[in-house]
This record gives sequence, structure tokens and C-alpha cells, in this order.
Amino acid sequence: MSETQNKIPEHVAIIMDGNGRWAESRGLARFEGHKAGTENLRQIIKTSVEFGVKHLTIYAFSTENWGRPKEEVNGLMTILETVIDRELNELNTEGVRICHIGRLEAMPKRVRSKVEHAVQLTQKNDRLILNVAWNYGGRDEIVHAIQEIVREGTTVEQVTEELVSQHMYTQCSPDPDLIIRTSGEMRLSNFLIWQSAYSEWYATATLWPDFNKEEFQKAIDAYGQRKRRFGKR
Ligand code: IPE
Ligand code: IPE
Ligand code: MG
Repeated sequence: MSETQNKIPEHVAIIMDGNGRWAESRGLARFEGHKAGTENLRQIIKTSVEFGVKHLTIYAFSTENWGRPKEEVNGLMTILETVIDRELNELNTEGVRICHIGRLEAMPKRVRSKVEHAVQLTQKNDRLILNVAWNYGGRDEIVHAIQEIVREGTTVEQVTEELVSQHMYTQCSPDPDLIIRTSGEMRLSNFLIWQSAYSEWYATATLWPDFNKEEFQKAIDAYGQRKRRFGKR
């Protein structure tokens, strides 16, 4: 086994971008792109387990995505519900723990209770931790953390990096080692802005529905070549 194959990131986070362009390039409605993207996710979850990745975080709906046409937002909510209904038992059997990151309270009630059920049902699993970022925004997360810290009556001296980390939504996982963005965009788009301080970045022009096992392997290999210094020598 080569040296690169040995270096598997413990936590991979993915900005699953490009569903709309994938659909439009085929003359299909954007909704079809989101459906294809969801199908692809199933494969990527399986591959993560195969590769030995322990934590997978997926950016599925941002706090800014509410600004899209109502029809698209509703379509995405329906997809989330359908995915939970269809996949939950299998994911649970396979030992996947589902954690949600983002503001649950702003989500439609039915979707919210399905997410809560999925989190509760899988809480003892530990083969793969799957963080689903839904109604997630990094700035919103920081605001939420500050609100909680103030609410708890914390003194100035008690505010440390560790304390702030403890108030982030990402309580199921350590900081991501590798962040992948598909579709060629080179920006954070409000994803994990606190946790990504020392994450390695990988961008590919491949659109999310086409991001397959081979593409995933390329990202893992690129990660294996990186030298992480964390500011040290
Ligand atoms: C990513 O695909 C999924 C979400 C943001 C919900 P997009 O819908 O952003 O696809 P593009 O970027 O328009 O191609
Ligand atoms: C980021 O993609 C959010 C998700 C993948 C869920 P966007 O398509 O919303 O980001 P921008 O608008 O291109 O920055
Ligand atoms: Mg996009």
C-alpha cells in the first residue's frame, strides 16, 4: 500500500454544489438535479465507510438558500423528507449516526420531527458519523454560540477557543480534515467558518451528481500529499 493510501482524513466535509447546472445542461428542471444529487449521496456515504472515513459532513441547505424561489425551496424540503423516509432504516442498520447541524427550529414542522427522529434513532451508532448541514450558516452558528454563551452568564475570562468550540453545532465531530467543493466554485459560502481554520481544501470542476467513487479517491489522494503544519515547522 502506498503512503498516500494510508493517509485517510478522519473527517471529510463536502459542499455538494452544482445540482442546478447538472440539470440545466441536460435540459432538465433543477429539481431533477437535486434528486440526482441525492442519489449520488447514497454512494458517497457507502464509499466513506469503505475508505475508513469516520466523520462525513454534508452541506445540503444553507441559511441563504431560503432566498431561492419558493418552488425550489419546497422541492428541497420534500427531498429531505423523502430521503429520511427511504434511507433511515438502512443507514441505521449500517451503523451510521445522523447528527444535524444548523437551526432546526426554523424548519417546517414535519421535516423537523423527521430529522429529530433520525437523530434520536441513530444516536448510539458509531461506524460513520454523518453530519447533515440543513438550514446551516457559519455566521448564524457563531451568533447562536454567542447567544448561548451570554445566556449562560459566562464571564469574560471564561471565554476561550475551547468554550466557543463547545457551543458550535458540530458536537458530534472534530474539526474537518478535508473540505471538498464540487462544481468549480472556490468559496466557503458560509460553511464551517469556525471549524475550517486548518482544514485542507480540495476543489473539483465535477458537478455534484457526477462526483463518484473515483473522484472521491482523487480528493483523498490529494489530501494524502498535503503537509499539514498548523503554523508550526
Ligand atoms: C447545490 O446545488 C445544492 C444546494 C445548494 C441546495 P445548486 O442548486 O447550488 O446548483 P448550482 O450551483 O445552481 O448548479
Ligand atoms: C452552497 O452552495 C450551499 C450548499 C451546497 C448547500 P450555493 O450554491 O448555495 O453557494 P453560492 O451561492 O454559489 O455561493
Ligand atoms: Mg450552487
